Amino acid sequence: MRSAKAKNFSVKDNQTNNFSTKESVTQSPLNHQNRIAKLVNNLSISKKIAWGYTLALSIAVVGTVGGFILGDYYQRQALIEKQEKWQESQLIRNLHAVLLELQAHQGKILVFTDLAHWQKERTNLIQHSAELQELWSELKTYVTQYPNKKISNFLQTYESSSIVYSQQIMAVLNQGDTSNLKPENIALAKKQLLTLTQSNIYIQLHESTDALDKLLETSEGNFQRKEIAVIATEKVRDRIIIISMLLSVAIAIVLAHYTSRAIARPLKAVHDVARKVTQESNFNLQAPVTTADEVGMLADSLNQLIQRVNTLLAEQKAEASRQLIQNEKMSSLGQMLAGVAHEINNPVNFMYGNLQHTNAYFQNLLMLLEAYQGKIQDDELDALAEEIDLDFIKQDLPKLLQSMQVGAKRAKEIVLSLKNFSRLDETEFHAVDIHACIESTLLILNNRLKKRITVVKKYGELPNIEGYGGALYQVFMNILSNAIDALEEADNEEANQEIIIATQCLDEEWIQIKISDNGSGISPEYQQKIFETFFTTKPIGVGTGLGLSISYQIVVEKHLGQLTCESEVGEGTTFAIALPIKRPNAHDNSAEYST
Ligand SMILES: Nc1ncnc2c1ncn2[C@@H]1O[C@H](COP(=O)(O)OP(=O)(O)OP(=O)(O)O)[C@@H](O)[C@H]1O
Ligand SMILES: [Mg+2]
Repeated sequence: MRSAKAKNFSVKDNQTNNFSTKESVTQSPLNHQNRIAKLVNNLSISKKIAWGYTLALSIAVVGTVGGFILGDYYQRQALIEKQEKWQESQLIRNLHAVLLELQAHQGKILVFTDLAHWQKERTNLIQHSAELQELWSELKTYVTQYPNKKISNFLQTYESSSIVYSQQIMAVLNQGDTSNLKPENIALAKKQLLTLTQSNIYIQLHESTDALDKLLETSEGNFQRKEIAVIATEKVRDRIIIISMLLSVAIAIVLAHYTSRAIARPLKAVHDVARKVTQESNFNLQAPVTTADEVGMLADSLNQLIQRVNTLLAEQKAEASRQLIQNEKMSSLGQMLAGVAHEINNPVNFMYGNLQHTNAYFQNLLMLLEAYQGKIQDDELDALAEEIDLDFIKQDLPKLLQSMQVGAKRAKEIVLSLKNFSRLDETEFHAVDIHACIESTLLILNNRLKKRITVVKKYGELPNIEGYGGALYQVFMNILSNAIDALEEADNEEANQEIIIATQCLDEEWIQIKISDNGSGISPEYQQKIFETFFTTKPIGVGTGLGLSISYQIVVEKHLGQLTCESEVGEGTTFAIALPIKRPNAHDNSAEYST
């Protein structure tokens, strides 16, 4: 059954597989769902749980790690950009400061007359001019590294003026011996510086300071935006982690719900069927086998169990009804035989008892007749005697009475056998004379034995055994009837058809009866089955197949004896019945004879 189910299951699977290969291009989501459901159904419970937890945990781990990696990546990018903007604004701020310083120092140097102050301002101017050049080239490098259109435009617009300005400052302030400046030198320098201050270059430098102011504003704005972006990326990272964790929890809940349902549902179905089967004693029910996991196996085992119980119950019912029919048959047969035996017994006894008197009376009458014949001579009487053939009557009547006596005696024996045989449903153990049983059975079967079958009796010395006489009659009747059937079936005109009945004491506890025939024999394959209930090779209406099964029951179960069969096709059959002399303990299975 299990294998048939498994077969169905796999056939279904194959059908689905075939279908899916044909339709592989246009697979609907429903198909996928079915395939996944089938795949899950084929998993064992432990695997279902393991896979469920692995999936939920994997999502949590992947989500968290992914969240960290993505968040970190974007945060790093944002930090780099923030750093870049910070560097940019620093450069612009420094440049702006240097330009302002330059303008301030240039103003001061024009008004200072004492040497010390002038010298100090001169140094400041030279230093800031150098710084201007340095910062300018730093800003240029920055723009080549991080292209920025506004800064590039600014550099292009004001580069020439700033370079020229710083070069001219250097040229004016580094003339002559700078360690020993004379007032006329200072006056000349002041004059040149004043000319520079009034030049377009200086005006452009001034404008560049304003332009830098705007650039600084923009750059600081950008820097602040980048700072906000860094905070935003932190938030995004946290959100990814939280969402993946929530997702894994949700999946874990869904999986837990599904797994518990996947386990509990079929279990409940199995439990319902088991309960219904026991409550309603309905053994035709079957638990649904929907999965190939442990629950599926459990349902399958339950189904097998139910089927086994069903079969056993059916066998039990058949056996019970068979027993009932048999008991009733035997009981009514016994009653009928007892009735017939009782009815025949009295007239047969009259006949048998009176025949002896009839014989004595006849002898007396014959004596009287002879006495009369000696005294009276009469022609008429002589003629009558001759007519009735008195001499023959005198000779034949004793013989006739003798044969009537033999017949009546046989009728008496048959009645006794019938009386014995009628005790078929007896329930008490009593002393049984096995030879008497066999003889009575043969007597009843006499008309079937006919002249062609010879019964050879090889009786040994047997004690009476403790048993059920009526039941043992049945055993001999069944085995002898089968032997006669086999001889009739062989129907060999020339062969000497015989039944040999041999009895012997095996030991102090056991006797044995062997009944052999030289009939058709039993083929080896049938020898295994002959003791089975309803096994018969005879046509319907002739054999019921109960004879040997009942005999086996009587010998083995009722008397704790043994019944065996040896046979060869065409040669004949021997049934050996071994019976314990003393009634063994009803449950003593150790009672066994050894040969
Ligand atoms: N002595 C025998 N020789 C050959 N076959 C035999 C012999 N005894 C029994 N069998 C085979 O065993 C079968 C079963 O015998 P059993 O007595 O149980 O049933 P049956 O004789 O067919 O029917 P019934 O119930 O009328 O006795 C017979 O049908 C027959 O084939
Ligand atoms: Mg029979």
